[in-house]
Amino acid sequence: SLRNFSRLDEAEVKRINLHEGIESTLLILQNRFKAKGDKPGIEIVKNYGNLPLIECYPGQLNQVFMNIISNAIDAIESNNIKDSSIGIQDNFNTITITTEVLETSYIAIRIADNGPGMTEAVKAKLFDPFFTTKPVGKGTGLGLSISYQIVVEKHGGKLTCVSEPGQGSEFCIEIPISVDRQTVNDIRSLSCVI
Ligand SMILES: Nc1ncnc2c1ncn2[C@@H]1O[C@H](COP(=O)(O)OP(=O)(O)OP(=O)(O)O)[C@@H](O)[C@H]1O
Ligand SMILES: [Mg+2]
Repeated sequence: SLRNFSRLDEAEVKRINLHEGIESTLLILQNRFKAKGDKPGIEIVKNYGNLPLIECYPGQLNQVFMNIISNAIDAIESNNIKDSSIGIQDNFNTITITTEVLETSYIAIRIADNGPGMTEAVKAKLFDPFFTTKPVGKGTGLGLSISYQIVVEKHGGKLTCVSEPGQGSEFCIEIPISVDRQTVNDIRSLSCVI
């Protein structure tokens, strides 16, 4: 499954079924979804739409899924620790993955968790390199900044987050169905100028 996930043999743009990439990411993370001792399990809810094949860098997008889903698990787990006094078994932990085609020849993948959510201060720095709220040795703060580069610069897409404290978090990845190389090159040269 690691080989499938990293798609080492496919460093170039390919037309692929993104659901396969999401599934191979979930397979690698499956141990973290299971209940262990007094830690409740996490349910994965899938609302997969009817996606066409997407022209993209598959190994890189899998890395984005991995970063965002791992963050969702970390967030849910941190909530469970805080809530342990009131009985974590009452907590229903879910990560919901929704995919759909948007009007504008883009597709969207939404990854939502019912963890603790984020304050405005955290949201403002979310995609900054080295920004982390995790203990030293746990997070490097690079996961989302790398994901942002992959989605926006490599694929000409968008990566956004909607979250409020106590309301969970939802990350939305938008990717064009076909990579418009001109757009990607324009964005690249723009970021060089900046
Ligand atoms: N689903 C989420 N719920 C709540 N907070 C989140 C969520 N996803 C990200 N964050 C916040 O954004 C910060 C930055 O995330 P990012 O993935 O870039 O780094 P990290 O997870 O801390 O470390 P790394 O991914 O490099 O191991 C996290 O430390 C956390 O505070
Ligand atoms: Mg992370």
